Amino acid sequence: MRDAHPSTIYLKDYQQPAYWIDQTELTFQLEDDSTLVTSRLALRRNDSLTPEGYLRLDGQQLELVSVTLDGQLVAAEQYQLDDESLTLSGLQEQHQLEIVTRIHPDKNTALEGLYRSGGMYCTQCEAEGFRRITYYLDRPDVMSVFTTHIIAPAESNPVMLSNGNCTHEEVLGEQRKVTWHDPHPKPAYLFALVAGDLVMHEDRFVTMNGREVTLRIFVEPVNADKTAYALDALKRSMRWDEEVYGREYDLDIFMIVAVDDFNMGAMENKGLNIFNSSCVLANPATATDTAYQRIEAIVAHEYFHNWSGNRVTCRDWFQLSLKEGFTVFRDACFSADMNSATVKRIEDANIMRTVQFAEDGGPMAHPVQPDSFIEISNFYTVTIYEKGAEVVGMLHKILGADGFRKGSDLYFERHDGQAVTIYDFVSAMEDANQVDLSLFTRWYKQAGTPVISVSSDYSKAEQTLSLTLKQNCPDTPGQTDKLPMWIPVQLGLIGSDGQDLAVAPESADGKSLENIWSEDSQVLHFTEAEETFIFRNVTEEPALSLFRGFSAPVKVEQSQSDAELLFLLQNDSDGFNRWDAGQRLMLNWIRSAQDDEFELPDVAVKVFAGLLADEELDPAMVAYLLTLPSESYIAEFSEVVDPHAIHLGRKRVRMAMAMALSDQFAACYQRLTSNLAYEPTPEQMTRRSLKNLALQYWSQATCEGLQAARHQFDASDNMTDQMAALSALVLSGEHELADACLDDFYKEWKHDALVVNQWLSAQAGSCELGTLERIQQLLEHEAFDWRNPNKIRSVLGAFANQALSFFHQQDGAGYQLLADAVIRLNATNPQIASRLLTPLTKWRRLTPELGDNMRGELQRIAASPDLSSDVYEVVTKALA
Ligand code: BES
Ligand code: ZN
Repeated sequence: MRDAHPSTIYLKDYQQPAYWIDQTELTFQLEDDSTLVTSRLALRRNDSLTPEGYLRLDGQQLELVSVTLDGQLVAAEQYQLDDESLTLSGLQEQHQLEIVTRIHPDKNTALEGLYRSGGMYCTQCEAEGFRRITYYLDRPDVMSVFTTHIIAPAESNPVMLSNGNCTHEEVLGEQRKVTWHDPHPKPAYLFALVAGDLVMHEDRFVTMNGREVTLRIFVEPVNADKTAYALDALKRSMRWDEEVYGREYDLDIFMIVAVDDFNMGAMENKGLNIFNSSCVLANPATATDTAYQRIEAIVAHEYFHNWSGNRVTCRDWFQLSLKEGFTVFRDACFSADMNSATVKRIEDANIMRTVQFAEDGGPMAHPVQPDSFIEISNFYTVTIYEKGAEVVGMLHKILGADGFRKGSDLYFERHDGQAVTIYDFVSAMEDANQVDLSLFTRWYKQAGTPVISVSSDYSKAEQTLSLTLKQNCPDTPGQTDKLPMWIPVQLGLIGSDGQDLAVAPESADGKSLENIWSEDSQVLHFTEAEETFIFRNVTEEPALSLFRGFSAPVKVEQSQSDAELLFLLQNDSDGFNRWDAGQRLMLNWIRSAQDDEFELPDVAVKVFAGLLADEELDPAMVAYLLTLPSESYIAEFSEVVDPHAIHLGRKRVRMAMAMALSDQFAACYQRLTSNLAYEPTPEQMTRRSLKNLALQYWSQATCEGLQAARHQFDASDNMTDQMAALSALVLSGEHELADACLDDFYKEWKHDALVVNQWLSAQAGSCELGTLERIQQLLEHEAFDWRNPNKIRSVLGAFANQALSFFHQQDGAGYQLLADAVIRLNATNPQIASRLLTPLTKWRRLTPELGDNMRGELQRIAASPDLSSDVYEVVTKALA
């Protein structure tokens, strides 16, 4: 147990540290059953504080060996030691402090601090993992220059890495010693160390100023054939950051290491990124197109942190979105540039609407800049990341690309080498553009998703359209009576010929045009609780296309008939809103599909058939236009969530689409099937995405389709097609066939952990195969491992987040299974336990009986002994 009564930490209590640490010199002696860490710190008193001479260093799960101050051993009576800290007193201006600790990487199952994954040593220090290595001021505003010595048995550790440049190497008998020096001051959360038997692939990048940078990816020998794509994505990211943000890399070497056991996706340690192997390793035979795109995005994200996160870092963890929200925005723009921008926007809006809106409407709702937390690990949320990125995206919309770039240039220049706040970021944007963004900052302080209601009135006689918008942001835990937000509404008015009409709004309250309208981006600035805008010279009643490109993270209440939605689906010049109209139409059908006889309206069949045949459209876009909203998306659009009704309604509409369009799907499948060798290029990926969607529908409707899926499963030479065929077979409900293919698949791939994980989640995430026994069997399967987060996510995460009607089975057995897993993992890996718990926090939205069952399981977790602060915080908030 970390703490009997975990306490709450408040932003308002922030204080600078009592000392700065100018230099940090670490020596790691990696021994068989433990590691000895010697830390030498150059301390300097922080003069802006009252000189108290007290220094409280953070430390957890450490064995203290010795403390030496300016060469003198400090006796135990002269310091205070508890489970969380080491406190020294009576200190002067400056000291040289040496602390020796012993730690046990082999026993570290939490995967924070220094631990072992497979045979290798690796670290994860964000957010507060460094305190499991040595006593330190483990907070991001203490930035220090690090030198790291690693001493380890030479034979088992041919590779020994840390941040910065390797400055020294020597052999000491059986041992080897290497020294790394990082000239850039950094907070401890960016420290990294790796040692083990790894192979390396190398490449080069020449920066915009002609400096040559060595790029290296280190992997376990079995993965030697899976590094090429990440290296390529890294070079594209480096070029992009130069071209779009003017940011150049600042060391002579950039390294990535792939590890199998990792709580998150990847980590931006200075010069030495550490990646979950699932987020970096790929080759055509084993990785799907989705995995390739994820790798591209994550490699870019971690690389981009070198400026947005490392050079300019966070003052405290309440500012987490300063680096994460901004960097997600940056990686999203990069992905949009590399692939289809509209498709990327659809994917991001989907995450906002399914996951972030749910968080913002539930017990864990918090602002993008939170006021308080118990356990910071719980705050790496979709709100910090995705909503934070949306907020930065709105600034980009409001300021325009050039204004935004001026602001980011000023931000990086002004704060290089500093630990700053979200307001420093906003101030740089304001100062570079001479605008007042104080109203805008409410997006950072107020939690909850604003609900916008729309009404409009067209007068033929006057040729005017008046548009009235109202906004309301619901109460969230600890926050009521919210103020109106600055909401950018990108819009278009569409004439009956499908063309956009010219738009010139006026404010009904006499505000100047400049205050309500940005011509370049066609954005209306809606800033009051209620506001009316008048559009003149509107010659016919137009179709309203609001929030184009998902221009603000809000819910929109607007009544539109199915006919209007179909019109938008066909005609809107904004691809995002075409998709959105289609989703709203499908939602209407899913709600109204009363029985298995449900059929699509003829007009809709014609429109979909037209889309499928339209070779001008981006195939990936067509695939999204024809994809039904997911069950969790539908749930977010429901007052009371009845997972079984959602599942049934969606299945009926899916069958209706499959039946009505089966010839078109077959034709589309055949048209897009190609003999070209697999390449992970955007062109090929978009074609495969539509081909495989067509296969999925086609195999639902007909025997020929099912045979085509079976054939593709056997014949394909790449994982994208093989996995798509397998999923189609699983979804078809042909259990024997599906099981036979699943068995074959496992036999073919059991040597490859990442492929096996896909196999696990294809089963655990399926409602068609669903029985709890199957989940139990997977948990006991030889391929499963309770210590590996990827396996846990593949089985339990897929089960609870995707197989909804099965997770929510009436007797509550699904909840019980998940709660058992949470209790078990609480003892070994609290971060993973806490993340796994999220689906159980949604009980208030469910039908009463399900809600009661779920709450019962939460209570059981709350009553179990030795809760970690991670699990404690989530359960108590969910029950409050
Ligand atoms: N800094 C985080 C990784 C992290 C988060 C480490 C929390 C420890 C605790 C990293 O930059 C990150 O955000 N990774 C994401 C992927 C990214 C593409 C959004 C992740 O790991 O999921
Ligand atoms: Zn990040």
